[in-house]
Amino acid sequence: MWTEPDTSEVYLNGEFIPLEEACVPVMDRGFLFGDGVYEVIPVYGGRPFRLLQHMERLDNSLRSIRMENPLQLNAWERIFARLTSSTSDDQLLYLQVTRGADRTRNHLFPRGAEPTVFVMAWTAGPRDPDISATGTAAVVLEDNRWHRCDIKATALLGNVLLRQAAQDAGATEAILVRDGLVTEGSSTNPFVVQGGKILTPPVSNRLLRGVTRDLVLELTRVADMLCAERHITRDELETVDELWICSSSREVQPVTLLDGKPVGEGVPGTLWRRMDALFQDYKARL
Ligand code: PDD
Repeated sequence: MWTEPDTSEVYLNGEFIPLEEACVPVMDRGFLFGDGVYEVIPVYGGRPFRLLQHMERLDNSLRSIRMENPLQLNAWERIFARLTSSTSDDQLLYLQVTRGADRTRNHLFPRGAEPTVFVMAWTAGPRDPDISATGTAAVVLEDNRWHRCDIKATALLGNVLLRQAAQDAGATEAILVRDGLVTEGSSTNPFVVQGGKILTPPVSNRLLRGVTRDLVLELTRVADMLCAERHITRDELETVDELWICSSSREVQPVTLLDGKPVGEGVPGTLWRRMDALFQDYKARL
């Protein structure tokens, strides 16, 4: 769904400049340590989607890494408005805050460093019709990441390696399992359907609480669909009727092939179709 970034203008530390002029010092802790956090926010019809939920999660991530939010909400909103004003196409906003540049490479937090704030907008590609028609493929991989997956940290090496391993296996996502329990995807949250009930793992330090995940849960309640947050075992994955993955950039997608075997009937399921319709309707109403 990601296409090219809008290179004409990005935001870096108070300035709006072309992407190719945007530079950060090599001593930036984001570069040296991955010491920063980020958000990806969809923009539909020129409006950031579930903005307050994303900004609340940004605050939580910053608090978890002992940083303060460098900007007030209205300052963020002004930046987003300017970067998304050139098109009415669907977009994605990427924002990143790092602990800034230090004079030496030292693990300890620098004193008095100014955070680095970067924001760019991307035009979202059109929805891939193949995904709604036939679904996508995933593989199950061991979740070997750290124990603070609830922080939306820029240090994504674990996720990057898992996503690449999925791609190398001919899939578009890795469904991660730790201690026999499903945690999340490499960059998505999973839902399964079993016996007519929609299930997703409960929030913990083992997964990122996705804004899309929370919206899916909200929509199931509004539509009176059976739903619960509970652990899903590795073995259960073998017998589910449906498997979905969701994120800000992928919306809600049906997984129809898992480890090379069909999920349920091997086609996008009835409850996924219903959820997708609810999701698209919710977007359109905003
Ligand atoms: N990723 N889990 C992980 C590890 C993620 O990286 C993401 C999102 C999600 C879903 O969260 P949300 O619904 O709030 O997008 C879950 C973004 C899109 C990314 O890194 O590109």
